[in-house]
Amino acid sequence: MTSSKTTIFKFARFSSLAALCLWAAPAGAQNLITNGTFDADSAPWWPHASSTEANPADNTLAAADGQLCATMTAGGKNPWDVIVGYSGIALTKGQRYRVAFNASADVERTIKFKVGLGDTPYTDYFIKTVSVGVDQRLIEYTYLNLRDDAMAQFQLQIGSLPGKICVDNVVVEPVPEPTLDAYITPSTTGKPLKNWSAMVKMGTAVDTPIFLSSPKHNQIVANEFSAVTPANSMKMNLIQPARGTFDFTDTDALLAWAETNSLEFRGHPLIWHTQAPGWLTDGTFTEQEMIDIMYAHIDGVMTKYKGRIPYWDVVNEAINVVDGVADYRKTFWHDRIGPKFIELAFARARMNDPAAKLLYNDYNSEKKGDVKGDRVFELVKGLKEKGLIDAVGLQGHFYILPNGGTEGVPNYQAIRDNMARYNDIGVQVHITECDFRIGKPLDANKTEVQNKFFTEMLQACVDAPNCDHFTVWGLSDVDSWVPSTFKEYDYAHIYDANLVAKPAYQALSQVFAKYNPDGTLVGSTPPPPAPTAKEDDGGCSVNPHSSRGGSWLATALALFGITVLTRRVSKRARS
Ligand code: XIL
Repeated sequence: MTSSKTTIFKFARFSSLAALCLWAAPAGAQNLITNGTFDADSAPWWPHASSTEANPADNTLAAADGQLCATMTAGGKNPWDVIVGYSGIALTKGQRYRVAFNASADVERTIKFKVGLGDTPYTDYFIKTVSVGVDQRLIEYTYLNLRDDAMAQFQLQIGSLPGKICVDNVVVEPVPEPTLDAYITPSTTGKPLKNWSAMVKMGTAVDTPIFLSSPKHNQIVANEFSAVTPANSMKMNLIQPARGTFDFTDTDALLAWAETNSLEFRGHPLIWHTQAPGWLTDGTFTEQEMIDIMYAHIDGVMTKYKGRIPYWDVVNEAINVVDGVADYRKTFWHDRIGPKFIELAFARARMNDPAAKLLYNDYNSEKKGDVKGDRVFELVKGLKEKGLIDAVGLQGHFYILPNGGTEGVPNYQAIRDNMARYNDIGVQVHITECDFRIGKPLDANKTEVQNKFFTEMLQACVDAPNCDHFTVWGLSDVDSWVPSTFKEYDYAHIYDANLVAKPAYQALSQVFAKYNPDGTLVGSTPPPPAPTAKEDDGGCSVNPHSSRGGSWLATALALFGITVLTRRVSKRARS
């Protein structure tokens, strides 16, 4: 037993004792893993490594020097294949657990640890990717458990590379809900982003692991935003993991929390070709069976949440560009049903919840004059003519190249022009997944381009009469989808990896700072009550009574402000 081990083990016991003093502990609150110190042997820990003839995996476990070491000479078949596991942990629904262990490895490695996989259905209740290296590192998380499971497992998934990894002082113990300091907005305006929700509702995507493990993240979301979108929990692989079997656990928890905090909840996505379950993608189905599966999925999810979810991304990313031509993406939905799957999905969603607003959602669809932007517009226009759609979701994922090249920075006027043509056909525009990834390394110039991006995107939405939702795709760089999806990129979000607001946050905040919460420009003269007829004209007229100011600049600003004001009043009157 090493001295660092003694300290950490004592700390674990101390934290349990402190917990007992501060909170009415559930009976038997203790470290749920009985041999996490490995002073005697490795039992009851078990090794696992899938083996194929081509890749004969192996994994030998041994307690050595007071640690549990797994040695792989050939490695595993899949990144998750070489596993060190512990079975039979009883987990309780609604309980928070602290998971902690020390780990070291022969070289710097990425491993995963998870709690879950008890009885069927197979579920990773809580899974985290972490880095371990030659020096022993303490890895520690507290998460909220959503499922009763008498037979849960704790696993370290080491990866497919040959080598060695050692763990020690493994603790899984129930802990009380942490308390947080009172919330103070980081905004230089002194007001959170949601202060302007009557103008534009700010939203963020929330992924399950961070929602369950970071009360601080949740506190920021609840205090700064007006809406949330589940980043993954409603995707078909997670919400219908087996045909006809829905798992609503994660979405239920997020939705309940959103409702408690008066956050609007966005349904995302119903029909998409990505993150689809294996039973669907690998199965052989006729056209009619595919339609039946699509309807059953839409019915199952929408019936469950009817009346609680006002906006649905019904179809996601159904257009792509091949050889410069934008058309229907070749997916299993498209190929087995034909392009009509889109209209069928919208009609089914409409039937399920006639009061809900339905969206088509896509990336690279933000600009007018762009091959995909134009094709998506045609698609949405067709759906609108049939009364099947209410809004388009412009995802808003953009980037700056690692070398500083700006080909991934949009033409903001083209985005404004696109919003305007949707307005002309009576379709609302929502920015649904905004982020701006930065090609590594980060530098001041790239940060400036990012700040300007957030300013321009939000201002375009504020100025458009038909844009009143602006969602960022994840709060911070600590739980970002970017580094694992785009290897050369990171830093895409408005909070940093320590959950500190970045200049990009202040950029958004400063756009709002020009307005009162009702959408009038700060300093503009309140107009007389708008006549009803004006409210119906789309808000394009300028109220001459409010045009005041000494200089030409002040006059110009006032005119601009009053335009915004009139439109905002109309927008509220409509909703
Ligand atoms: C992303 C999630 O954020 C990731 O966690 C996941 O691994 C992949 O999907 N367009 C969409 C979103 O519509 O659902 C995607 O979300 C990002 C791109």
